[in-house]
Amino acid sequence: MPVVTTKSILQRAFQERYGVAAINVVNDLSMEAVLAAAEELRAPVIVQTSVKHVVMTGVGVMYAMWHEMTEKITVPVALHLDHCPDRALISECLAMGWNSVLFDASKLSVEENMRQCVEVVDEARRHGADVEGEIEGFKRTEEMTGDEAEHVQSLKTVVDFVRVTGVDVFAPAIGNAHGVYATAPHLDSQRVTDIVEATGIPVALHGGTGMTPEQFSDLIGRGCAKVNISTALKIAFMKSGYEYMSAHPGVYDPPALFTAQRAAVMEMAKYHIRLFGSEGKAWA
Ligand code: 13P
Repeated sequence: MPVVTTKSILQRAFQERYGVAAINVVNDLSMEAVLAAAEELRAPVIVQTSVKHVVMTGVGVMYAMWHEMTEKITVPVALHLDHCPDRALISECLAMGWNSVLFDASKLSVEENMRQCVEVVDEARRHGADVEGEIEGFKRTEEMTGDEAEHVQSLKTVVDFVRVTGVDVFAPAIGNAHGVYATAPHLDSQRVTDIVEATGIPVALHGGTGMTPEQFSDLIGRGCAKVNISTALKIAFMKSGYEYMSAHPGVYDPPALFTAQRAAVMEMAKYHIRLFGSEGKAWA
């Protein structure tokens, strides 16, 4: 079962300058479909779990699904907890076996974020897990005002944060946001280069849904080894369900509906894996 560390997946991608799709799943069906897409394309993949879905499903059930589903997987995969401000939930997931966590203390001062992040990194290391850090937070696309890229911390603050905490991957705000962009976002790609050069660690690109292929390849080339996709999965999952029900009025056959949704989620995952250049990059 090649469940590997998130860091090992990202280090190779970072060195070779391809991107690894880090896809937020919402349930068993979408988790299995993302893993199946990675398997089919011989690609490493990071399966992300949002706090909302972990809490809704239960830490134990979520992990049991992961454990079962990765039993026969032959490509490198890792399980990641996305944006989590809740230290207790981080502890629970790390103890259960998650491979990495994003400690999201972006609402706290940088000093307090840093202080607590040191503790999270220490705890993660005891479990053989890795940590993603952030200090700026991300808006929802519907809250964007166009000047997001200007409200960021200095490069020195980022470098200090990475050095003091020892995080494995850093998630900067570069004008990106979560959700559906009204138009392709204006991104500060130079900031990625500056951070990569100054810290030497891979960058996590948030708000991937809706960025253009050119933006992805530029940012991946600059060191965005982890590329987060969440909304695109939700759209594929919901739309395929809606379309199936619309095309089959009066048919109440859950497995047929699930088959359509699985195919749509797999297609979405394969599209992004290919776009990010990680097809065929499995080494395990
Ligand atoms: P999107 O929902 O915009 O794809 O963003 C995903 C993400 O960054 C998850 O942390």
